[in-house]
Amino acid sequence: MTFEKHILCIGAGYVGGPTMAMIAHQCPQYRVTIVDINPDRIAQWNSDVLPIYEPGLDELVKATRNRNLFFSTNIEQGIRENEIIFVSVNTPTKTFGTGAGMAADLQYWEKTARQILEHSTSPKIVVEKSTLPVRTAQAMERILNTSQNHVRFDVLSNPEFLAEGTAINDLKNPDRVLIGSRETEEGLKARNTLAEIYANWVPREKILTTNIWSSELSKLVSNAFLAQRVSSINAISALCEKTEADISEVARAIGTDSRIGSRFLNASIGFGGSCFKKDILNLVYLCRYYGLEDVADYWEGVIKINGYQQERFVRNMLTAMFNTLSGKRICLFGFAFKANTGDTRESPAIYVARRLLEEQAEVVITDPKALDNARIDLADARGTVHFVDDPYEAARGCHAIAIMTEWALYGELDYARLYRQAEKPAFIFDGRNILDPRRCFELGFNVFSIGKRPLTHF
Ligand SMILES: NC(=O)c1ccc[n+]([C@@H]2O[C@H](COP(=O)([O-])OP(=O)(O)OC[C@H]3O[C@@H](n4cnc5c(N)ncnc54)[C@H](O)[C@@H]3O)[C@@H](O)[C@H]2O)c1
Repeated sequence: MTFEKHILCIGAGYVGGPTMAMIAHQCPQYRVTIVDINPDRIAQWNSDVLPIYEPGLDELVKATRNRNLFFSTNIEQGIRENEIIFVSVNTPTKTFGTGAGMAADLQYWEKTARQILEHSTSPKIVVEKSTLPVRTAQAMERILNTSQNHVRFDVLSNPEFLAEGTAINDLKNPDRVLIGSRETEEGLKARNTLAEIYANWVPREKILTTNIWSSELSKLVSNAFLAQRVSSINAISALCEKTEADISEVARAIGTDSRIGSRFLNASIGFGGSCFKKDILNLVYLCRYYGLEDVADYWEGVIKINGYQQERFVRNMLTAMFNTLSGKRICLFGFAFKANTGDTRESPAIYVARRLLEEQAEVVITDPKALDNARIDLADARGTVHFVDDPYEAARGCHAIAIMTEWALYGELDYARLYRQAEKPAFIFDGRNILDPRRCFELGFNVFSIGKRPLTHF
């Protein structure tokens, strides 16, 4: 079969895998190849157990794999044979040198640019899928334009807005697809080629086009605004606990204002995930770089409140449990940074687990999808940690249950049974406000929710 377009994606991660599986599924007339430097990851993509858990992803991959979707480690061949190259490699926060702890580490990104340059013998459209600092496209163009073969490269920015846990639906019915390009004749032509791919299933009016710098910046700002909502409601949850206002009532009251809107107003232990923190830090770094100190401080506050909320959660546990956690067994319900993913990157549960161990508590962790990652995250932690699949087993004999992830499963457990097998007095700390506090209280638990009056039997 001859394919209309040949598409490559470099980076087979949480973004590259699902995004390309969706393109392959929606466009059987295109041939899509995903490459990665990590051979284990590629072997997993080619196996029955995919490297990431995402509802609906298995079906999509099974329907397309080896039909028009291919996973490979042969990056050079991929570059040679494809005319459209998405780059979806990781862009973590830099851990060394100038900008350490703030700026994006672009080493994977630059390595990819040089590989594309080295192996290209025909014109390419290079699409930035990774989240990058503003003006990265310029650096990319500068590297690519040193081509000795006089190969033409057009660089586009096409940031990804999917959220883990709902990635397949987000990709299928996106709020928008954003494509940034140079406003030259060639830039506009490349932009149209990319828009044509999405137009196979995304309505044209949802495909937004901008200049390339607006596109790069919009992704950072989008994550900053989302995280800001979480930190805003979490900041108010602390005030609720002092004043006996109830954060759910406040959230409903403000969220019904159509200018504010109701989504993303659930108070919690805080946001996690690989993106929010790193992207805001990146924004803060950019602002400082351009001398905009006040703007940088403003956005940095979003991250500070997130750390504050996690520490506050641990302090509340400590105070409630008579100022000592030493030797107490505490069960964490969930370790993933959110429900419906096995991803634990920057999960608040990591911080809480480590702090509890510091307080010499014994920690029992359960999670339906994230236990393997939890083991890696806590491999160097000192103290006693157990990893248990079954939540009832995990909670048996514990002094407290702390809900870290809003898995639906944890709302549906038999809390009367959990109470019977708990050490008394029994405590629940609901870090996601998913339980009915009054019902748990009536069963005998002492219940501490976020931004609500504690319900205690003493
Ligand atoms: N995870 C999300 O929810 C999400 C959402 C939107 C955007 N993003 C952005 O997308 C980008 C990728 O994120 P992710 O979560 O998919 O990361 P990831 O770590 O899951 O995947 C990145 C992959 O790139 C591979 N890689 C690194 N360097 C390579 C190279 N030189 N050649 C080939 N492969 C290479 C890695 O081995 C890894 O498998 C990041 O910039 C992130 O900010 C992520």
